[in-house]
Amino acid sequence: MKLPEGIERILIEREVIEKRVLEMAKEIDEYYKDIKEPLIVIGLLRGSFIFMSDLTKEMQTPLVVDFLTASSYGDSMENTEVTIVKDISTHIAGRDVLIIEDIIDTGITLHKIEDILATRNPRTMKICTLLNKPSRRKKEVKIDFNGFDIDDHFVGGMGLDYAQKYRNLPYIGVVKNEK
Ligand code: IMP
Ligand code: MG
Repeated sequence: MKLPEGIERILIEREVIEKRVLEMAKEIDEYYKDIKEPLIVIGLLRGSFIFMSDLTKEMQTPLVVDFLTASSYGDSMENTEVTIVKDISTHIAGRDVLIIEDIIDTGITLHKIEDILATRNPRTMKICTLLNKPSRRKKEVKIDFNGFDIDDHFVGGMGLDYAQKYRNLPYIGVVKNEK
């Protein structure tokens, strides 16, 4: 297969991702099997859009979806400002919430989002991510459902971008000249 300009190699093949997403959907269904009200699945935009779609299609748990856009500015933990650019429009008080991320890197974004959403008193709040880069963690995040741990590469595909490119690739590819 010809890789797009800027993608060095495939890190995780499409078939491997598809298989793992199926397993994750089963794991999540099992976890929420006694749920009373629909699960509120919150995707962090834009990166989670493909994973969230693939995952929820395989789930049996009754659910509703909503989306949240966060933005982070800054270059270190001390001066990184995380703000909500587009908020969810669903009331989460007393409800079960599942946050969907594309990748957890330093953990700064998700840590902050969790803090903000926790003030709205959901019954439970769990984290699901397609990818995890544990070597880069600066803020602890408890991941409840994790697709793959990866080494410290900058990757694109399956919703993840580099300068807005590569989001639609059906695999995870390593971006050239990664920093
Ligand atoms: P964190 O606050 O460092 O955990 O930031 C996580 C966010 O950074 C993710 O939701 C992605 O949008 C972005 N990000 C981190 N690593 C990568 C990568 O390798 N490729 C694409 N986006 C990434
Ligand atoms: Mg993101």
